[in-house]
Amino acid sequence: MKNKSLISINDYTPEELLKIIDIAGEFEKNSVQDILKGKVIATLFFEPSTRTRLSFESAVNRLGGRIIGFTDASSSSVKKGESLKDTIRTVSNYCDLIVMRHPLEGSARYASEVATVPVINAGDGANQHPTQCLLDLFSIKKTQGTLENLNIFLVGDLKYGRTVHSLLMAMSNFNPTFNFISPDELKIPDEYKLFLDNKGIKYYEHSDFSEIILRADIVYMTRIQKERFSDPMEYEKVKNSYVLNNDMLTGTKENLKILHPLPRVNEISEDVDENEKAYYFTQALNGVFTRQAIISSILGLK
Ligand code: CP
Repeated sequence: MKNKSLISINDYTPEELLKIIDIAGEFEKNSVQDILKGKVIATLFFEPSTRTRLSFESAVNRLGGRIIGFTDASSSSVKKGESLKDTIRTVSNYCDLIVMRHPLEGSARYASEVATVPVINAGDGANQHPTQCLLDLFSIKKTQGTLENLNIFLVGDLKYGRTVHSLLMAMSNFNPTFNFISPDELKIPDEYKLFLDNKGIKYYEHSDFSEIILRADIVYMTRIQKERFSDPMEYEKVKNSYVLNNDMLTGTKENLKILHPLPRVNEISEDVDENEKAYYFTQALNGVFTRQAIISSILGLK
């Protein structure tokens, strides 16, 4: 992992995924250390973010490092027409590591090819969100005690949801059963089904989950992402497809946890928030420890 960019979750072997989870567990016990003293991390966010950017920045601050960057490309020279290539080559001179979110799929891989420091993909369009995936794995392992043989429900936007795509690939190392619940317009793309077929992983597709939820170990809810639709009418048709409420959790398994990468709009009712099976805000906290683990591993400090 040392000096390697993290662009896709497939950049890490199953052993490396487990190693990051272990290191994140160490940071959970002691998240304030001075190991990044003298290190500068650049956070370049070409798309909005709350959790990813702030948990990266919190992670760095708690480890004694410094942050530079921008939260809106319109405040950078991109606004004057500077290319992504020139931006990345320039910022490489100023830091030890770049964390980048960008709306274009493939942009993170491209940035890693022109950068002279490692790049961490903080989300590239509908493609991948590997650091979210690692914090999801950490959350699943922590709540279930294992990553193996779990019944995982993925609900909502399975077409454009980059967190879903990364999680599907990573969990497929641990013999899950997947249940995909989505409207027809947002079904899991064929390339991911082919990926699972090739690995011999079981999966089922549904349009409703109110009854089958009784079998779930993890329900991973996702937002229908308005920003990914070119036709607003198409968004209007599907935006209220699934709303998880507290009554639906009656009779579900003791170990069930509800995850969501957040932000949510209306797909989880607020009455679920106080249910002990709701885990999404703790999941967001786990992002700090997991990102500390990723940064320190790439910088060769762990
Ligand atoms: N989960 C996630 O990526 O959240 P943000 O868009 O707020 O960073």
